[in-house]
Parts: sequence; structure tokens; C-alpha cells
Amino acid sequence: MGSIVPGITAVGAYLPDYILTNQELEKMVDTDDEWITTRTGIKERRILKGEKQGTSVMAVKALEQLLEKSGTDPKDLDAVILATITPDYFFPTTANLVATEVGAVNAFGFDMLAACSGFIFALETGANYIRSGNYKKIAVIGADKMSSIVNYKDRNSCILFGDGAAGVMLEPNDEGLGIYDAIMRSDSVGKELIYLKGGGSVNPPTHETIDAGLHQFFQDGKSVFRYAVTSMAGVAAEIMKKNNLKGEDIAYLVPHQANKRIIDATAKRMGVGPEKVMLNIQYYGNTTAATIPLCLYDYEDKLKKGDNLVLAAFGGGFTWGSMYLKWAY
Ligand code: UT7
Repeated sequence: MGSIVPGITAVGAYLPDYILTNQELEKMVDTDDEWITTRTGIKERRILKGEKQGTSVMAVKALEQLLEKSGTDPKDLDAVILATITPDYFFPTTANLVATEVGAVNAFGFDMLAACSGFIFALETGANYIRSGNYKKIAVIGADKMSSIVNYKDRNSCILFGDGAAGVMLEPNDEGLGIYDAIMRSDSVGKELIYLKGGGSVNPPTHETIDAGLHQFFQDGKSVFRYAVTSMAGVAAEIMKKNNLKGEDIAYLVPHQANKRIIDATAKRMGVGPEKVMLNIQYYGNTTAATIPLCLYDYEDKLKKGDNLVLAAFGGGFTWGSMYLKWAY
């Protein structure tokens, strides 16, 4: 690692007001609160309502909060990296729209499409810009409007997802508190198990692709679950070993929130007790790229300067990864 340590100086978030409860889902598909709670840990999720309201609406609010909390003039922002699988459009990129909307006139922006691992991949990318010495302020955001691609007739998947946005500000840290290590992986074995196949260059949109449901999310939950447990727990254990960390050295595991059972398996493999696991899946479900920064946001008050955190995620692609960082404030 170079001599410049990229530290997190603020966390910002935005969640839509509308709450979709398990009880409301019971009226939409053949499911029940007990099944959802015991199999996933989810009780409710947020949904962004309204015409022409895209992911950028939420990301702008999260970024505005980030700028305010970090005391950043928008003109001083170098870049916005936005992880999402539900961009407003294919292009212009959502990061581009968000940066302009907040007045970040000197920034560049791009989207990172790595599904549920998107935030970790984007954060490591942002960290490398800071490590280069050429950039001083990078906003990294995870934002998804999953309700725009979820099939609300498929009880296997519609109960899982919610909408939300959150992110962090990265700046050089002169106390050595920041991002130390990341391990990131991908394997296209997942391409037949979790996907959205319509709208790209293989299946451009037609009436037929719409009728065939190709513009909606699909996953084979049981198969994805097996890969998720092995890979997320594995990569979290791997980063601990690589950095000589034991369970007692970790202040918090910050896991992607897809299923509480995957999170529990990861914590167990790391030797970390439940009191050290950030958990908010009960309130928001799986918000894809937003889950990890939403955890940091919800637990911000509990974090202390110098705390060791391990982030871990697994998602579509497949993609998976972990990150080791020291909390900077
Ligand atoms: O973040 C992106 C990566 N995604 C993940 O990590 C998700 C990984 N997968 C999972 O979290 C879980 O596999 C699910 C929550 C999606 C499903 O849980 P499961 O324990 O694997 O259940 P299952 O798919 O094996 O289904 C068990 C039963 C089935 O009925 P039969 O065949 O046993 O009669 C399903 O049809 O539960 C049924 N089922 C439901 N029942 C009530 C499936 N969905 C529902 C539902 N309500 N919503």
C-alpha cells in the first residue's frame, strides 16, 4: 500500500418514505409474515413512489447530506462513483446526473455495475484515486431502486428487495485511519442463477422481451444462497487471515443485507458475535448497492475512531468481496 491512506470522513443516506410491510405483501402474493421473517429476517422495505422518480433522486439526497456533513463545497468534489444496477438510464450515467444536480461542476462521475458487491468495488476504486495523490475528495455512493425491476408477481424474489441510497466521502487521512485492504472476485457461473436479461445488446427491448419478462429481476434463490454463504464467509475470513485479524480485533462486521441467514453464517466463520454485526435488513430488505453504506449510516453513532471494520458482500454476476478499514472519526 502507498503512503496515502483514504479515510471515510462522512456518511450520508436517503430512504423513501413509503414502507412496504410483509403484511401488505401478503395481499399481493401467496406469502406470509412468518415465512418472510424466518427465512430472510425482513419485516419491511422502503419504496420510491411517484412518476419519473429514478435512482438519482435518492442518490442526490444522499450526496447532499454527504457534502454537508463533510463540510465540502460541491465545487471541491473530484468525483462521484455510483454503484447501481438500476441506473436512471443506460447513459448518461446516474453519477453524472447526480454530480451536476448537486453543483459538483469540477467533478467527473461514472457508474459501477457490480450488483450487491457494487459498493465495495466502488469504494476500492475511490480509495485508489485518493491513494494516487491526484484526488482529494471522492464521493462513493450505492443506490438502487429495486422496485423498478422486481417482479411483484414472483413471491420468491419480490419479498426481498427495497429502494434506498447511501454513501461515504473519501479523503486522505493523515492519521493512517482508512481503507487498508480489499479482496474482490467475480465468476460468471452466476449468469444463469441471478439476472436481468432484457434491454442490453443481446436482448434489445421488443414487445417479445417484455412479454417474456426479460426486463425483470430473476434469481434461483436456493442456488444463489449456497454460493452466497460459501463465498461471502470465505472472502471475509480470507481478509482477516491476510491482515492477522482475530474475531476480537473486529469492532463490526458490515455485511451486505440479502438474508439474515447468510449474515449469521459469515459472522460465525469470522468468529464475531452477533453484537458486532451491523444489521438493518429488517427495516429495508435488500437494497443491493446501498446496503453496506446504509449500515454505516445507521451505526455511525456507535462507531469509534480507530475501530476495525470488515465489509463483506456477495451478489449477482456472481461478484463478491471484502474490505478491511479503520474508522476515521
Ligand atoms: O443479494 C443478491 C444475492 N441474493 C441472495 O443472496 C439471496 C439468496 N437466497 C435466499 O436468500 C433464499 O434462498 C430465499 C430467501 C430467496 C429463499 O429461501 P429458501 O430457504 O432458500 O427457500 P426455498 O427457495 O428453498 O423455498 C422453500 C419453500 C418452497 O416451497 P416448497 O417447494 O418447499 O413447497 C417455496 O416455493 O418456500 C416457498 N416459498 C415461499 N413461501 C412463502 C418461496 N418464496 C416464498 C414466499 N412465501 N415468499
